[in-house]
Amino acid sequence: MEGVRGGRMMVVVAVLACAMMVMVPEVEAVRWIVGSDKGWNTNVNYTIWAQDKHFYNGDWLFFVHDRNLMDVLEVNKTDYESCNSDHPLKNWTTKVGRDVVPLNETRPYYFISGKGFCYGGVKLSVLVENPPPPPTASPITSSSPRSIYRGQIVLPVVFAIGTMWDAFIWFW
Ligand SMILES: *[C@@H]1O[C@H](CO)[C@@H](O)[C@H](O)[C@H]1NC(C)=O
Ligand SMILES: *[C@@H]1O[C@H](CO)[C@@H](O)[C@H](O)[C@H]1NC(C)=O
Ligand SMILES: *[C@@H]1O[C@H](CO)[C@@H](O)[C@H](O)[C@H]1NC(C)=O
Ligand SMILES: *[C@@H]1O[C@H](CO)[C@@H](O)[C@H](O)[C@H]1NC(C)=O
Repeated sequence: MEGVRGGRMMVVVAVLACAMMVMVPEVEAVRWIVGSDKGWNTNVNYTIWAQDKHFYNGDWLFFVHDRNLMDVLEVNKTDYESCNSDHPLKNWTTKVGRDVVPLNETRPYYFISGKGFCYGGVKLSVLVENPPPPPTASPITSSSPRSIYRGQIVLPVVFAIGTMWDAFIWFW
């Protein structure tokens, strides 16, 4: 009996260790779902969606959309403002309706949808900044909005692990 319990304990520890390893990168970099629950679509003002957020080098943009309607075109500032889709810098459209764009350079990024949707507001600009130093290196910055955001991710993770743990204990 003790052997079985010990074996289960090892499994629990291994599962928790894996969960931690998977979760850590998500705390480091943020994968932004563009438009949140509305996705990449008409009837969303992406200027308003982006204005209270900080985008850092290493984050990702995740465009979720109807693959038959929208595309995801990276353009320059002029073409963003004029909704010109004739010569995109990069066409990120993969035709599955889920396009992931790594924000790996510290600069402004401009995205539009073609087929006229840009004129209806399907356009996004984000300014990608260098990440702030980690809170442990300089505790003074721990009140920055970024740290608050990360705190909101970490806390549910801690609760989730606690709940999993309770469930396992209770199961025995
Ligand atoms: C954007 O690209 C167009 C076409 O290549 C060019 O005419 C325009 O000057 C560019 N704008 C910027 C800000 O680079
Ligand atoms: C972007 O790529 C998609 C998928 O290959 C294609 O259907 C679409 O026409 C392209 N758009 C532009 C403006 O090049
Ligand atoms: C950023 O990612 C793009 C697309 O994957 C790649 O072409 C580019 O070289 C990368 N830039 C840097 C600075 O790594
Ligand atoms: C989005 O909201 C901003 C700020 O209120 C406004 O200036 C802009 O015209 C709006 N964009 C669209 C496409 O409605």
